[in-house]
Amino acid sequence: HRYARPLGASLLGLALLAAHAHAQNTLTRANGAPVGDNQNSQTAGPAGPALLQDAQLVEKLQHFGRERIPERVVHARGTGVHGQFVSAGDFSELTAASLFGAAGKTTPVFVRFSTVIHPSGSPETLRDPRGFATKFYTDQGNWDLVGNNLPVFFIRDAIKFPDMVHSLKPSPVTNRQDPNRYFDFFSHVPEATHMLTWVYSDNGTPASYRTMDGFGVHAFKFVNAKGEVHYVKFHWKSRQGIRNLSAKEAEAVQGKDFNNLTHDLYDAIAAKNYPAWDLYVQVLKPEQLSGFAFDPQDATKVWPNVPETKLGTMTLDRVPANFFQETEQAAFAPVRMVPGIEASEDRLLQGRLFSYADTQTYRLGVNNQQLPINRPRVPVRAYHQDGAMNAGATDSDVNYQPSETAGAYADDARYKASQLPLSGTTQQQRIARTMNFEQAGELYRSLSPQQKSNLIANLAGDLGQVKDSRVRDTMLSYFYKADADYGARIAKAVGARPEQIERLARAL
Ligand code: HEM
Repeated sequence: HRYARPLGASLLGLALLAAHAHAQNTLTRANGAPVGDNQNSQTAGPAGPALLQDAQLVEKLQHFGRERIPERVVHARGTGVHGQFVSAGDFSELTAASLFGAAGKTTPVFVRFSTVIHPSGSPETLRDPRGFATKFYTDQGNWDLVGNNLPVFFIRDAIKFPDMVHSLKPSPVTNRQDPNRYFDFFSHVPEATHMLTWVYSDNGTPASYRTMDGFGVHAFKFVNAKGEVHYVKFHWKSRQGIRNLSAKEAEAVQGKDFNNLTHDLYDAIAAKNYPAWDLYVQVLKPEQLSGFAFDPQDATKVWPNVPETKLGTMTLDRVPANFFQETEQAAFAPVRMVPGIEASEDRLLQGRLFSYADTQTYRLGVNNQQLPINRPRVPVRAYHQDGAMNAGATDSDVNYQPSETAGAYADDARYKASQLPLSGTTQQQRIARTMNFEQAGELYRSLSPQQKSNLIANLAGDLGQVKDSRVRDTMLSYFYKADADYGARIAKAVGARPEQIERLARAL
């Protein structure tokens, strides 16, 4: 009858619990029951088969067979680190986001760095953009700034993303990445010229996650308490400086250590050499958006000559206790914003607002926000109900809104979204101000002679493998259009006829 009252509710209960507890380091099954033999299966006698009743054998094999979850469909290979962000001032004139509300205000963060295309066990030395995703656990909920180490992107419309990734991932026939496939795709995407120039520069092979910058890439909105809107771009500037590997150096590193970026980050933190980044923001008033030759909400563009304001500094100082639970189960999504930060109309970002939270319900389950690494550090009072793996506590029978019940949750008009004036019709048209090539040319001309030579060699190495001369020459014409010297040098390196490339470029 000792089970008649909850165990532990009285001294007697505690004493009984202690009497029955097994030794502190006794192996248990998932139900907490002690294991008597973890070396030998239960069998029918000395020569008979194994018994289905062996709970430990069955549970071990069953759990083992379910250890893998789907890897991220992109950015599968990554490394996570904890730290904090400290605001450099009170930016409430610009944004109501509380994390920027006072100098010295500290917000815990979790950052995951990643490669993009290659799978979860792939070498960290391979050419790729690098992901730079930050989860800010703010006192108004989580804000995920899901950026990259390069300031722009390949495409400007989310509808192209699955095709782009298919072309860059291994062929469904050969299971090998193939420049014939992705340059075939990019020959139809002239706006990718700027990003391809970044990726094929040595910035596509950073020496360390600590020595690269991060960018939000898109325009976002800062909204202040009066509802005033500014368009902003975010930039993490590494306090360690920028350091990249040449293709030769990357090859040499890969021969010795293909986990080089994870090793570097973990080793630096173990040595208390904590990496830090300053967060800067560029700010435009809505009426300034029309004053550029390109569309400032086009993710293939940077905002040249727009001053940057420092918002604060992030320091990373703690590696996860468990890689899977924290780094693999981390779910970053651009849609997770806090009051004072909103999405712009950028149609690449608009697609991302849907895609991440959606894939995470598949990769991790519908209650992935309840996992310790993703859980906000403020009370969650959502009326979401049930779903697989639900561990969210609820002790109220009100799970709907609105309600007259005392203590029922209510929305608050102070947190309404800002308003955007609109006119016109629905449409399916590309943006008006494309300016596909100029910024790629500016980037090329800003490089040192050595950086230019490395870029040409890196590009020629892959473009030189393309068998279809139409694809190859169209790509060459894009680089030529960006800068004649740039295009002519790659053309020469791959054995193309410069006059033909010049003719194609003139027609663009
Ligand atoms: C990861 C989609 C563009 C940065 C992902 C994931 C998806 C995705 C489905 C996997 C998420 C997960 O399983 O948790 C898209 C789509 C894009 C796009 C549809 C364009 C329409 C971009 C851009 C950036 C970016 C422009 C950078 C500004 C990242 C990063 C991750 C990621 C950093 C990894 C996050 C992590 O560490 O868990 N993306 N992406 N993506 N994406 Fe994108």
